[in-house]
Amino acid sequence: MSIAEIFETMEYGPAPESASPAVAWLEERGRTFGHFIAGEWRDPRGGEYFDTSNPADNRPLARLAHGSTEDVDDAVRAAREALPAWQALDGHARARYLYAIARHIQRHSRLFAVLETVDNGKPIRESRDIDIPLVARHFYHHAGWAQLMDTEFPGATGVGVVGQIIPWNFPLLMLAWKVAPALAMGNTVVLKPAEFTSLTALLFAEVCRDAGLPAGVLNVITGDGRTGAALVAHDDVDKIAFTGSTDVGRIIRVATAGTGKKLSLELGGKSPFLVFDDADLDSVVEGVVDAIWFNQGQVCCAGSRILAQEGIAEKLTARLRERMETLRVGNPLDKSVDIGAIVAPVQLDRIRELVEQGRQEGASLWQPSWSCPTEGCFFPPTLFTDVQPSSTVAQVEIFGPVVVLMTFRTPSEAVELANNTPYGLASSVWTENINLALDIAPKIKAGTVWINSTNLFDAAAGFGGYRESGFGREGGREGLWEYIKPRWEVAGKGSAPRRETVRTKPPRGEKQKNGGPSLPPIDRTAKLYIGGKQARPDSGYSMPVYGPGDRLVGDVGLGNRKDVRNAVEAAHKARGWGAGTAHNRAQVLYYMAENLGARADEFARRIAAMTGDEAGAEREVEASIRRLYTYAAWADKYDGLVHATPLRNVTIAMNEPIGVVGVACPDAFPLLGFISTVMPAVATGNSVVVVPSERWPLVATDFYQVLDTSDLPGGVVNIVTGKRDELAETLASHDDVEAMWYFGSADGSAMVERLSAGNMKRTWVGYGRDRDWLDAEQGEGREFLRQATQVKNVWVPYGE
Ligand code: NAI
Repeated sequence: MSIAEIFETMEYGPAPESASPAVAWLEERGRTFGHFIAGEWRDPRGGEYFDTSNPADNRPLARLAHGSTEDVDDAVRAAREALPAWQALDGHARARYLYAIARHIQRHSRLFAVLETVDNGKPIRESRDIDIPLVARHFYHHAGWAQLMDTEFPGATGVGVVGQIIPWNFPLLMLAWKVAPALAMGNTVVLKPAEFTSLTALLFAEVCRDAGLPAGVLNVITGDGRTGAALVAHDDVDKIAFTGSTDVGRIIRVATAGTGKKLSLELGGKSPFLVFDDADLDSVVEGVVDAIWFNQGQVCCAGSRILAQEGIAEKLTARLRERMETLRVGNPLDKSVDIGAIVAPVQLDRIRELVEQGRQEGASLWQPSWSCPTEGCFFPPTLFTDVQPSSTVAQVEIFGPVVVLMTFRTPSEAVELANNTPYGLASSVWTENINLALDIAPKIKAGTVWINSTNLFDAAAGFGGYRESGFGREGGREGLWEYIKPRWEVAGKGSAPRRETVRTKPPRGEKQKNGGPSLPPIDRTAKLYIGGKQARPDSGYSMPVYGPGDRLVGDVGLGNRKDVRNAVEAAHKARGWGAGTAHNRAQVLYYMAENLGARADEFARRIAAMTGDEAGAEREVEASIRRLYTYAAWADKYDGLVHATPLRNVTIAMNEPIGVVGVACPDAFPLLGFISTVMPAVATGNSVVVVPSERWPLVATDFYQVLDTSDLPGGVVNIVTGKRDELAETLASHDDVEAMWYFGSADGSAMVERLSAGNMKRTWVGYGRDRDWLDAEQGEGREFLRQATQVKNVWVPYGE
């Protein structure tokens, strides 16, 4: 096109960025790469390689090593060997390394950007102006956290050797999100990039070596899902951090169940983009471009469901179509291109199939009149209207430049539609009415809410999902918890059970004595407590509770699946508890402490009757009263944060309740174990279904009299006595239970983790290790509060 023609048509002229830095870099390395292990390049043990290609022209770029189990083994060993020296450094020393890495990334930013674009297909404008600057920012920011670790997280250390598996949509940025916090907190890393996009990770490995990072602190092994699975399965890995599809996330959840590996998962999404009548439509249209046509729509938090209020839906549709006509799809290295190439043919096929399905389901499809390049993996921006909320295109993550538009009438309908997905990663709310925006934000079940903005990311703000979008956060202070261990765990305390809880069965045929002279008389079978009322167990059976010498102390109801299901339903009905004020929750908890105090002797006698430990029983009641005070105190003090993100925003990190939490209590301290696990969840606004100590449940059933007299709304705490593992099994597999805590055996812990993969509920299990529940460091505090909450980051426009 001549300049005269460009003036005539106002068409963009081509403005290609040269691929030469990337080509030269590849050529210098003979276009063949091994794994980066212990600071050196190693050929794959099995001698297997695979090709990686440029999706814009489908031409091969390089040959990459395929990581076998032996390669994974070598990499994990290197990381393990490097760990002690890396952990022994003070935070300042690690900060210097991270700072040096950030500097090196900036120095090579053009090479990184071009290499990313040819490998992934994303427009050079995005890799140059978004991905790479954010990567550098991430390392600078976490250099700061390394510097502050000793004072901000006193006594904590890294969790150890971390296996990190990342996807192909933001290859280097996802690397940064994983590697920067891990290294900052003193972990060593084995990273597996996605098979389609490993090149910038290999360049990054070189950068780390040039920056002087000690050998073995970062290891990179390339390969596909088999390599990833071998890393997940490796015995000597302490934590797995994964970003990718929900399907693979589920496989990893099951594979790590019971191994004691820490796990964080950042999975898929189908994020709503809410447009209210009064929104500024010009901004909305550009917002949609950023929401779904950024990175070809291959964004886990892409605003892929536009929910438009009826009054403006037609106008918005027309404006969007107009704008879509002006988008440019083509050579990703061209600086005037908006939409580049889809990462690989297999992904392109998947997008085509889903779009075809949408058409067959009756949705109206609209694409611009121009045609896409035919060579390479390109797909045009696509808009579906007349979409049923339950249809495939409205429910399934398409991971391409395809958006659906649905309408709503009222704000409450908008919230209902927004939450009509198993995911909960992100959302955008567009309205000129700040009252409305801030009314909607808390109601959306998603880890991020962008107000009048979309797809904003920063190292200072946490990112991560609710529900089936995964758990754990990346970025900000909240992201660091994934990479550290609490002080008492580091010191190896808390392994010895304080009370003998294993009982032998009474000899067969021996008649059990009922009660005893100093023990409370047994006059009834304690019932279950569901929805604020005592309930008979569905089974009609009861379960005996024995004290010392196998003396029968009383009976409790033998709960079953049906009782658990009723309790979960009651807990759901009580969700208003989380929407009430924290002050109110504090008052109720103080009231419980007061009521327990008034009956302290009775509770102590009950505990002593079961455990035979009179002095211990008094101590336990006293500790329980204190603990209630602790959570009453915390209820209105477990604040969120305001993050200093460098865009035109304040980013408010709110600690929100998770919802319905299942709790299986430890055996050893029947009252204190119950209070210690239930009350942090209650204080932070969750409702709970609790299985008390199986061995000594009676004191928990006494406790519902305290609950009844303390103004706690019915359904906030539901108590189902019975066989812990049977009841925990039902809770862990229940789709309406959103988190599950389990403090029983190692086998039970594994079972809970495995079953929780169904709805990807968050789990917290003890792996059969006992805590010292009397010790305030182990038995209460922030760790419990963190487990009871999930962080929602709300980006609010602020300042100039
Ligand atoms: P994927 O989840 O299979 O790949 C992500 C990473 O996991 C890659 O490094 C891959 O090698 C690894 N992996 C695959 N199977 C594994 C296993 N069994 N154990 C351990 N690691 C394993 O994603 P895929 O198949 O490339 O994309 C399919 C769909 O997943 C996309 O269409 C999209 O819907 C979704 N996706 C979501 C992403 C997100 O950021 N939320 C990122 C990538 C894909």
